[in-house]
Amino acid sequence: MRQSSLVVVANRLPLDDSAAPDGACEWRRSPGGLASALHAILEQTPATWVGWNGGIDSAPVLPDIGSLRIRPVGLSEEELRGYYEGFANSTLWPLYHDAVEQPVFDRRWWETYRDVNRRFAEAAAEVAEPGAAIWIQDYHLQLVPQLLRELRPDVLIGFFLHVPFPPPELFMQLPRRVELLRGMLGADLVGFQRPQAAHNVAQLATKLLGAQSTDDQINLDGRVVRTGAFPVSIDVSEMQALAARPDIVEHAEQLRTDLGRPRRVLLSVDRLDYTKGIEHRLTAYSELLRDGRVKVHDTVMVQVAVPSRERVDSYRVLRDRIEGEVGRINGEYGRVGEAAIHYLNQPFDRADLAALYLTADVMVVTPLRDGMNLVAKEYVAARAAGTGSLVLSEFAGAAAEFEDAFLVNPHDVDGLKATLLDALDADPADLRRRMRAMRDHLTRYDILAWARAYLTALDHSGRLAAGLRK
Ligand code: ADP
Ligand code: F6P
Repeated sequence: MRQSSLVVVANRLPLDDSAAPDGACEWRRSPGGLASALHAILEQTPATWVGWNGGIDSAPVLPDIGSLRIRPVGLSEEELRGYYEGFANSTLWPLYHDAVEQPVFDRRWWETYRDVNRRFAEAAAEVAEPGAAIWIQDYHLQLVPQLLRELRPDVLIGFFLHVPFPPPELFMQLPRRVELLRGMLGADLVGFQRPQAAHNVAQLATKLLGAQSTDDQINLDGRVVRTGAFPVSIDVSEMQALAARPDIVEHAEQLRTDLGRPRRVLLSVDRLDYTKGIEHRLTAYSELLRDGRVKVHDTVMVQVAVPSRERVDSYRVLRDRIEGEVGRINGEYGRVGEAAIHYLNQPFDRADLAALYLTADVMVVTPLRDGMNLVAKEYVAARAAGTGSLVLSEFAGAAAEFEDAFLVNPHDVDGLKATLLDALDADPADLRRRMRAMRDHLTRYDILAWARAYLTALDHSGRLAAGLRK
């Protein structure tokens, strides 16, 4: 296989499951922040993407997508269970999200996680040209930086964590904490969403590895590992262009009609994940209906909850609970032809998402913990008219950038109810001021600004960032 000067390593490939009849492959905008973010950058930058194709026991040779080469890594059924569903999504994911769900420590998963990380590292080493930069993404591949350093001491190694990095007292619960920390610190630059994460890692490196650490530099084994916060963003111009398209504006109008032309529409768009606070939100909304503070013919709520990690027990159980609760709320408060909550458990394409954002008077983004939350940024990008309210959890990374949102603690159901009412009843002039401030920030810090900041920090020469689309 040909080698590249930039190699991205991520658990998932951004490819459509089914190649077109002519053999061509489309970008698959799989739900999830990572694919959304990297899609915007790699569309036009010569690079190779190493990742799992989403299938089991198959690693077909996949065609390039434009200038992007694809190097698939296959997973067996056992690997999928131990590495992806097990260690990544039943141990690390809940632990890194404040243990809002109990992390599972199953010793059998560790070896599989380590072996699969090694396979990703070997694949990346094979496709990297001498002196290349290799950019590893997220908690699935936390051992890859150190493994790669052993295989290819000539390359520049970057690691970016899209999810939160937990406080030391939580990380200390991990049975393989030393290996995981060392693995990540094999990189030259470790990037996080928030400065607090770099602070947590510095404390742990001192405590567990005896390293000399500050919040932006860790001296380990005679090497310097740089750390820092690089808040990820979205392709603002793509979302703006979609939201301005006449057919999408018309679609948004039609959606409002289909919803019964209520005075106000609330919208939530999440992967169906226990970190997203969907149940807390449903409780708050149902109490507002019960208390008569919100009336069904006047206000409707749309909850998009795209299926996610459906073979993991906790996700299956959550789906049943949410669907039971939506059924209860609609049964109790809906009327014939007037649902209290419109629940959609399906993926949507970007155009349909843009139409939904245009329809929403109040966007409700209330995760219990979230690395960033790109849905909040997509909503702001879509609202060129300056109308609309964003209700945003204090525990989403995006809250640090959107101080003008209606910020809320989603664990406090009374506070959540009060904030929803504030957002529903806000003065339009106040909303315009808030939206303008958020949009000003977002247009300055879009996805290219993120990639440029990270890649420039990784390689001071500016060589990597120079390849990005203008
Ligand atoms: P996470 O990475 O935890 O899923 P984010 O909010 O950062 O959370 O990213 C979610 C991404 O997935 C966004 O780009 C959003 O547009 C996309 N997405 C969410 N719901 C859907 C859906 N039903 N269909 C398609 N894409 C979705
Ligand atoms: O943004 C966090 C993240 O885990 C990404 O790494 C991932 O692409 C996304 O959520 C969706 O999850 P999954 O790849 O498990 O479907």
